[in-house]
Amino acid sequence: MTDTNPIEALERLEADALAAISECADAGALEAVRVAYLGRSDGHISVILRGLGGLPPEERPAAGQEANRVKQAVAAAIEARGASFTRPERGEGPDLTLPARAPWRGGRHPITQAVDEIWHIFRDLGFTRARGPEADTEWYNFEALNTPLDHPAADEQDTLYLVDSVLLRSHTSPVQMRTMETHEPPIRIIAPGWVYRRDTYDATHTPAFMQIEGLVIDEGVTFVDFKATLAEFARRYWGPDTRVRFRPSFFPFTEPSAEVDVKRVITRPDGTRHETEWLEIMGAGMVDPAVIENVGYDPERYTGFAFGMGPGRIAMLKHGVDDLRTFFENDVRFLSQFAS
Ligand code: PHE
Repeated sequence: MTDTNPIEALERLEADALAAISECADAGALEAVRVAYLGRSDGHISVILRGLGGLPPEERPAAGQEANRVKQAVAAAIEARGASFTRPERGEGPDLTLPARAPWRGGRHPITQAVDEIWHIFRDLGFTRARGPEADTEWYNFEALNTPLDHPAADEQDTLYLVDSVLLRSHTSPVQMRTMETHEPPIRIIAPGWVYRRDTYDATHTPAFMQIEGLVIDEGVTFVDFKATLAEFARRYWGPDTRVRFRPSFFPFTEPSAEVDVKRVITRPDGTRHETEWLEIMGAGMVDPAVIENVGYDPERYTGFAFGMGPGRIAMLKHGVDDLRTFFENDVRFLSQFAS
């Protein structure tokens, strides 16, 4: 300091520091350079700053200014070099300038959504939720439901047997019997669940599918209650203008039986309204007195109605999906459209 011009010494120091900084390969090396030049007690630049007091008074201001400039330049170079360690240049290491992938957001499956919507409507009408086993006996799946094993209706629903007389249930109707056995009337239940049939996998059938069973048993339940309850359900689900039609049908466990159809009113994008075709949504009927007797209730005292619908079909209608299989292929690009 004493034998050289302090400004020249500072400039040499700056050049050395910048060279050392550019050679630093990691944060540890950089920290060592920082301590060597800017360290408070014996960093090169700190030492020069402290020595300024020994200069002749007329040289002090210029040397002081220069020392501060070098100090700032070195500090800035250290900071820039440090930042480069966390932001690699393109082409080396991961490209952190790419936009982040959006986090995955799960959603309920469209069929589960349909089950919940349907169940909530019935809940508001006073129903509770029940469930039964997916593997059940021939008695509960067929015989208790007034379906002898050699009846053609049993054939139609022939399903997968696990062991003798135990099978994967072919409908949710066994829950009717199981609920009546364990509860006293009045009964008002909704029982959603998986059922299994020996069906070909195609656009409108899958060998496993969701069903929702409904059962009402009480004193004095009539066909009027039956029609009114299901019509009210349809209007709450598809809108107040929905029409409901009961077509005579047959099920061994209901008498009389009906297929229930709905005709919906949809509003087109241009605002015009249009009625759809009739669409079958469920099988239903007044519970057969033989079933009520099977469970040990007095059929003269208790009457009721039951229904079974497929929420998968109902979800297809609702979303305009034309192939039931798409619900089961688990393609997230398809399913994510329904995530609410
Ligand atoms: N269990 C019948 C089926 O799966 C539907 C049904 C339920 C019909 C209740 C009448 C009463 O086809």
